[in-house]
Amino acid sequence: MADESPKSVANGVLGHLPPWPRPALNNSVIGMEQAYRQRKNLTPLTDEDIAALKAGEQMPWERGETSAPAASPAPAAPPASAAPPAQATATPPAPAAASASAEISPEVAAIVAAGKKWSRSTVAAEQARRNRKGLSALNDAEVTALLGEPATPAAAPAPAAAASAARPAAPAAARPAAAQATVASASARGTEANTYVGTPAVGTSKAAAAGGVASVGPDDSDVNQGRRRFVWTAVAAFLMAWFIAFFRFFLPRTLFEPATSFKIGYPADYGLGVDTKWQQKYRIWVDRTPDRMFVIYARCTHLGCTPDWKPSENKFKCPCHGSGYDSEGVNFEGPAPRPMDRAHVDIAPDGQILVDVSRLYQWPKGQPSRFNDPGAYLPV
Ligand code: FES
Repeated sequence: MADESPKSVANGVLGHLPPWPRPALNNSVIGMEQAYRQRKNLTPLTDEDIAALKAGEQMPWERGETSAPAASPAPAAPPASAAPPAQATATPPAPAAASASAEISPEVAAIVAAGKKWSRSTVAAEQARRNRKGLSALNDAEVTALLGEPATPAAAPAPAAAASAARPAAPAAARPAAAQATVASASARGTEANTYVGTPAVGTSKAAAAGGVASVGPDDSDVNQGRRRFVWTAVAAFLMAWFIAFFRFFLPRTLFEPATSFKIGYPADYGLGVDTKWQQKYRIWVDRTPDRMFVIYARCTHLGCTPDWKPSENKFKCPCHGSGYDSEGVNFEGPAPRPMDRAHVDIAPDGQILVDVSRLYQWPKGQPSRFNDPGAYLPV
């Protein structure tokens, strides 16, 4: 009868649960027990067991009403007490635990049918969630299906049947044998794996020692796939930008400037005075006097600013340092040293005025003017 002590039972069938008498357990404790049993390949608590634990009552098999969750690797011990053989043989085998564990809920079936494969860490997280919500834990069949592992055959019915047959007569006598076998097996597997509770970090020694519960990488969920896609897109974009910048280095730094020779229409298009319509495009003014047309290059001879035409004052005024030029571009005030240059003009074959700003006519200070040279104006 020493084998029927609560301690020996707790080490085996009860797992980490405290032996009877015990107070009512909450969902957190029950969830930890379920996770422990999953890691140790023990039969999980049934719904009836969980209800009894929450109510602070004996579990059905403790009361001898149903089959006990026997440890799978341990063969059942022969009944040690004086139980009548008639009672043992009269009790039918109880396949309830096996059939319950083999059932797959519609929710899990839908996940499996969708082709999703869960990792062990995801399964553990789901078990914890169910514990928090007070839902029934995933059974072995559901866990196996979610992991995508081939279905394992159900536990051999013979030892279970034998154990269940012996249990009504001497339930405590059968369980200690299984408990002792479980204890011996657990002790043989090492201390770290047997004592660690929780989900260890991936890649740590505890994860390896814990039998692979968290020794796999993150699950291949849609969120993780999206993250990986984002990271790889960012890396590809960075490499592409670097690649383009590298090859751009070998290309010439070309500056495309406007053409220096262009047409500005017919002489009849211009009246007397200053016309500024080409200032923005070609930086010139067309100036017409009673006897000639010429083109002033709109660049101050002081430091190169573009003067403004002031019609009300009939003069050009440089905004930079105040140089003033008369209507023909001849300086008369400010620091400008000489009149503004005039561009080469000619009549194109089609009769339009052809301007070439690459050929300028100047009037340097103290030197003869080039404004009367051929090409510096058009007679009209
Ligand atoms: S640049 Fe025109 S006055 Fe100095």
